[in-house]
Order: sequence, then structure tokens, then C-alpha cells
Amino acid sequence: MNRRKFLNSAVGGISAIGLAGCQDRRSIGEADRERSDYARRNVKQTGPTHEINITAATGEVEVGPGRIYKSWLYNGQFPGPEIRVREGDRLHIQVVNRLPAETTIHWHGIPVPNPMDGVAGLTQQPIAPGGSFTYDFVATPAGSYLYHSHVGLQLDRGLIAPLIVEEKNTHVSYDREYSVVLDDFLSGEPQPLGANSSGMGGMMPGRGMMCGMMGRQVPPYEGLLINGRLPDDPPAFRTKTGDRVRFRFLNPSGATTYRVAIGGHRMAITHTDGRPVRPFTVDSFYIGMGERYDVIVQCSNAGRWAIVAATVEGGSPPARALLDYVDAARSLPSSELTPEGLERGRVLELSDLESQEESAVSGENPDRTIDMVLSGGMMSPAWTINGQAYPDADLIEIREGEHVRVRMVNHSMMIHPMHLHGHFFQVQKVLKDTVIVPPHMGRASFDFKADNPGRWFFHCHNVYHMESGMAREFRYPG
Ligand code: C2O
Ligand code: CU
Repeated sequence: MNRRKFLNSAVGGISAIGLAGCQDRRSIGEADRERSDYARRNVKQTGPTHEINITAATGEVEVGPGRIYKSWLYNGQFPGPEIRVREGDRLHIQVVNRLPAETTIHWHGIPVPNPMDGVAGLTQQPIAPGGSFTYDFVATPAGSYLYHSHVGLQLDRGLIAPLIVEEKNTHVSYDREYSVVLDDFLSGEPQPLGANSSGMGGMMPGRGMMCGMMGRQVPPYEGLLINGRLPDDPPAFRTKTGDRVRFRFLNPSGATTYRVAIGGHRMAITHTDGRPVRPFTVDSFYIGMGERYDVIVQCSNAGRWAIVAATVEGGSPPARALLDYVDAARSLPSSELTPEGLERGRVLELSDLESQEESAVSGENPDRTIDMVLSGGMMSPAWTINGQAYPDADLIEIREGEHVRVRMVNHSMMIHPMHLHGHFFQVQKVLKDTVIVPPHMGRASFDFKADNPGRWFFHCHNVYHMESGMAREFRYPG
């Protein structure tokens, strides 16, 4: 079966827009010339322009047999429609807001020009109900990305979707590929999680489940989904003996970090947040909110196997999908299969990986080093960076061209996947845009080159932590 066919077919609840509906290169008109003021430096359009319409509206979604919920949706779908283009193509995406509230869309991971970044109050006025806004940027570099609302807690209301920018040349070969969207599904309106004042365990007086210890809170999710389906109705990814399958794991969850494993198969990690790395084979990996990992699976163990993503901090049953060989008898029901890799075997460590690309930063000596203490979850509802809760927090002013280093230590009991807009950063020997800072005095540090001027949001991608203050603005003029 040819790869292109797979790319354009609807799989596991995700249908793609983009490649199929793309127009030929347009002539440069007035509007284009105006928009080109927004061009990020050194970025050239090398492919067609895609005119894409996204409508954000209320609707209903079925996440399992009879499990129908009201939600907020992109084009009536959950997850939203996958946008899929080739690197160098240009996107003109008209977003129409039919929600009862203001909204925006952020193109998570792509270093777009600042006015296209979709952060309400920082890079644009939010789109009013009934209004619209057109995002315009060149889709580069290739990678697995996300798009989601960047207003308040809306990301946890269903406004999430994959954005795939295909490579012109890949450093790995494969026969077919699938996008795998991991999500913690909430019905109804997300509520801020209150202060943890009621002691150990049990339900909070408001909403939110305390998990074992002080300082850990998880919203009351209906369940964990893969491509919009609950574990009792898992999507099936078909394969056959001898094939190499590329899975793009994407985590737009509101508050869930997962450990991912596949029964009977190992995974070669090939991309971190879209950036290519030398393939490294493991039995499982952790994926925090906002992170993406691409893996290649060599299909040489015919049968039906479970693909499982188990939560690290919450209490919900694991999200589940199936790896289904079309050339083998279906054996055990999927519910009886728990991948061994969830408990034993080799777990990916970031230090295992090595970038296949050159980093924008070189040398050991940054021009500027910023230290951050991440705290929260104890006596107050605030989640802070150096004791400050955004927006009551200092601006971080840097200069164009600087090599900036950020060193973080986590004084809290929760995982913080920290995400920088507008840039890739180097962490250890790889490039990423989101990095987990482990709980209980865990540390992480990253380096980036200030090569995309503007006002850039930096925050924990646990949307509840972000909204309770764990965020900052990096700013530098062009
Ligand atoms: Cu997905 Cu501010 O980010
Ligand atoms: Cu956090």
C-alpha cells in the first residue's frame, strides 16, 4: 500500500485537511505583500499556499459507544481536523469563532512570526464571538506539531488538533504512518483547581481529584483517549508483517503526562518535538503535555497488540489503541494485553538521543543565563516561577542574537513540561520546544538563540498551572 494513500485516508477518527485540498501557488497580490511584513527572517515559501478554514463552535462528540458529550470543537471534530502540509508550503488559515467566548489558535512548536503566534493579549487581540482572524505563515521546519486555543483553560475544552509538516527528505524509512493524539477528556467547562487546603486524599470540595499526596491535583476527566476514543473502544492502526510504521505521538492533554508502550514491539525514537534524532530503540517513553515523539515500529510480531498510554500523575485507566496485523489471526482481546514495556524494559532518557540537525547555539558560554525555581501546589492555588505568578511577574528582556540559557529546578510535587513559543531550544544533545522538569527537585536546562524577535510566551503546558501563574514573557525587539 502506498504511503501517500495512507496519509490522506481518515484514520482512527482523524481526517486530514491540507494536502488533499491544496491550491496551486497563488500570484502575489496586495494582501500577500502586506502579510509578508510578518515574515520571519530567512524563511522562504517553497511550495503552494493552502487556504484552510477552521470554525470553532460548540457541538457534540462521541468518545465511546453511547458516550456523547457537549464540547467545543474545531470543524465539528474531536480532536480537530489534522492539518497536513509539506515543509515550505504556506498556510492561510481563516479561523471563524462561533463559540460563546473569545478564542485564538496557537500553532504549537512552529516558530511562526510573532503576530501569528495566537497568544491572546500578548501577540493578538482575541477573536471575538462571531469574529474571525487569518493566520498566515510558512510551514517550516518539517515536524509533528499541534494547534490549540490559547485563551484561558480552553485547551481542555476540546480545542486541540494535530498539525503535521511533512519532510521533503526523511532520515528514516517507513511504509505507513499514523498520528496518535493522546488526550485527557473533560466534559463541561474546565474549572481552576483550587488550593489544596483539605489535607490528604479524597475529592476536593470543588472539582479536582487529589491524588495521594498534597500538591497533586487532577481535573475530573471522563477518561484518557487516543484519537478521540475511550479505552473500551480503541482505534485500530493496521499494519502487516514486514512493514515499518511511523507513529507520531502527540500530547495536547490539559494535565496528563503518559508513559507509552506497545505490546510485543520496541520503538525506535526518531523525532523529539518534530526535530530529527538518531534513532534509538526503547520499550517505553514518557510524554508530557505539549511534547511530541515520533517513533518507528518494525512489524515482525504478527497479531493484535495494545498501544497503551498510562497516566503518570492521575488515576484514570490508560488510553488504548490497537496495532492490528491484517495478515494474522486476531488473537487475545485487546483488554487482556498490557505491554510489558509499561513496567519493565528500557525507558527513554533524553540523554539517549542525539540531534540529526545542527543547533542554533554553539559553544559553552551563553550571553545570558536565567535561573528559575518552579513552585506551587502547597498552601496557595498559585503556581509560580521564582515566586511570581504571571501576569504579576517580571518581563524577561533579552536581545536579538543572544544565546540564552534557562536553568530550572522544580520545588513542587508535580511534573512541569515547560514550553517556549517561537523557538526550538537545545536540551542535552537534542532540539525540542517543550521539556519536562521532573518533580521533587528535578532539574532541566535549555539553550536557545534569540533569532525570532517578538513577545514570546514561556509556560508550563499543564494548562491549569499556566493559568495559575506558571508563565513568563520573553521579549526582544527586532
Ligand atoms: Cu501549546 Cu503556549 O502552548
Ligand atoms: Cu506545571
